[in-house]
Order: sequence, then structure tokens, then C-alpha cells
Amino acid sequence: MKKIVFATNNAHKLEELRQIVGDKIEILSLNDIGCHEDIPETADTLQGNAEMKARYVADHYGYDCFSDDTGLEIDALNGAPGVHSARYGGVAHDSDRNIDRVLREMKDVPMEQRTARFRTVVALIEREEDDTTEFPLRFEEMKFFDGKVEGVILTERHGEGGFGYDSIFKPVEGDGRTFAQMQPEEKNAISHRGRAVRKLVDYLTEQYLI
Ligand code: IMP
Repeated sequence: MKKIVFATNNAHKLEELRQIVGDKIEILSLNDIGCHEDIPETADTLQGNAEMKARYVADHYGYDCFSDDTGLEIDALNGAPGVHSARYGGVAHDSDRNIDRVLREMKDVPMEQRTARFRTVVALIEREEDDTTEFPLRFEEMKFFDGKVEGVILTERHGEGGFGYDSIFKPVEGDGRTFAQMQPEEKNAISHRGRAVRKLVDYLTEQYLI
């Protein structure tokens, strides 16, 4: 079975992804390959960060790898938090603080101006087909897959599921529930990451005739 590293240890993301991929491809996490260091994510675009993470794993561990970077773009905040979504509240990956800051900054914004979107870029790096060398390895050119979902930012949290900003994001395509009120498969069907990852899976399926 094709093995590929997903450059994350986020359990929610791994679960979402394995649900989309099914049993066609074996997805390894960073923990699975013994990568416990903080991978630099210092680019100022989603694509740049996704590329950095995937290339790091490929260079240091020799695996085919993909990584994702996601941002929430809120129109009333001129596209913020965007590439800074993970640490908008000041502390990395503290979703409560991130949401508090967004709600505070948007407290006077009327509903019709609360439009936003999640955007994901997935970067994939693969060994060249005929590369049988040890280090340094040869990799193909990086490939990118993107996905987005439009929605609005509510004035308070709704729902307990999901993660990150899910409880304040109501997708336009849904039935009025936030991502945090949906089952994982409902969210995956329309989400930014679901869309980007399905493009990735389509590519891998064709490439490896899985
Ligand atoms: P990352 O680049 O995918 O780690 O995403 C950056 C930040 O965006 C995360 O720390 C979360 O706060 C937020 N985020 C990413 N994906 C989602 C999602 O599917 N729902 C809600 N928030 C998300």
C-alpha cells in the first residue's frame, strides 16, 4: 500500500483525512515517523508555509509527504487572521483566545458584513520515481491543491464539535449550523480542507492507480 506522511500531529485533521482517503493509502503522522521537533512555518503565505513543512519532512526523513496550511479570511478584518490564524489570540493553537479576539474585533460589525472564508493549501512532495539513492534524495517539483469554503462569522459560539474557529463559522452552503454543529463527514463534504484533500486524493489515485 502507498505510504505517505501527513505533516501534522493534529488528531482532528488526521481523523478527517483518513475518513476521506479511506483505506487506499496509509497515512503516517509526524509522530509515526518519529518527528517531534517544531517544523518552521515562517512564510507569509499559506502556500509558502505548506511548502516549508512538506519539504522539511522530505529532506530530513526521506518520505513522500504532504502538508496543509489553512487560514480564516474575514472580510471585515481585511482578510485577518489569514496566515496568522493559529496564533491570532496571542498563544499558538489556543482556539478559545483566537475566537475571543475575533468576536471582540467584530462586535460592531452587522451580520451582512460578517462574510469570511476558510482557505487551505495542500503541498505535496514526492521522491523521483527512479530515485534509489540514499541521501541526498531527489524529489519532484512540489504540487499544490487548494480548497475554500465561504461562510459568515456568528456573534457567539454554537456547537461542541470540530476545532479551531468551527463554532463561529457558518458555511453558506449548509442549513444554518456551524461547522462545530456538524458531523465530521458533513463538514468534510463542503470544507476547505476536504476540498483540497479530495483533489490530492484524486491525483494520488490516478498516479498510483490505487
Ligand atoms: P493550520 O495551518 O491548518 O494549522 O490552521 C491554522 C489555524 O486555523 C488552526 O490553528 C485553527 O485555529 C484554524 N483552522 C484550521 N482548520 C480549521 C478548521 O477546519 N476549522 C476551524 N478552524 C480551523
